[in-house]
Amino acid sequence: MSGPAIHALHGFLGSGKTTLARRLEAELPAMRFSSDEWMVALHGQDPPAADFAEYRSRIAGLMQLYWTRALALGLPVVLDEGLWTRRERGELRAQADALGVPLTIYALNTPEPLARERIRQRNAGPASLSIAENTYDLFRPRFEALEPDETHVSVF
Ligand SMILES: Nc1ncnc2c1ncn2[C@@H]1O[C@H](COP(=O)(O)OP(=O)(O)OP(=O)(O)O)[C@@H](O)[C@H]1O
Ligand SMILES: [Mg+2]
Repeated sequence: MSGPAIHALHGFLGSGKTTLARRLEAELPAMRFSSDEWMVALHGQDPPAADFAEYRSRIAGLMQLYWTRALALGLPVVLDEGLWTRRERGELRAQADALGVPLTIYALNTPEPLARERIRQRNAGPASLSIAENTYDLFRPRFEALEPDETHVSVF
């Protein structure tokens, strides 16, 4: 066993985070926390937009209880969030430091047309959270690319 560690992901919509998270879950092995799966299980594939932020934040709080507990029990965890903002990444780094566990951020560099196409295909399949066509453009401005001082592992 590899001991407690946080494996986190950085990538925009459809970049392949959940796919990589599943791979890490199996290979490390680790406990994976994918908030979209909790969302679908609790609120369905297309929760009302007006409630989405509230649902997300409740799920994040609940997941944190479990992933910090898993770390305390000595298990590696995979956090399947996009870490879109520098602030979120900084907070996670501070949290890892406070817990005394190593943090690895894997950056997914999937070209935009490929990510869009993958979302289209995934939407057509069963059981995943639905991402509307315009959501990509709507949220793109919120995505802050990694800066040179942000240590990470690049994944292609
Ligand atoms: N390396 C890959 N090769 C081929 N298909 C892939 C690869 N990675 C992901 N996909 C496919 O692309 C789609 C999107 O991938 P995935 O769900 O992992 O992205 P995501 O970053 O988790 O998306 P979201 O931001 O919506 O959570 C899925 O249908 C997945 O099967
Ligand atoms: Mg995902």
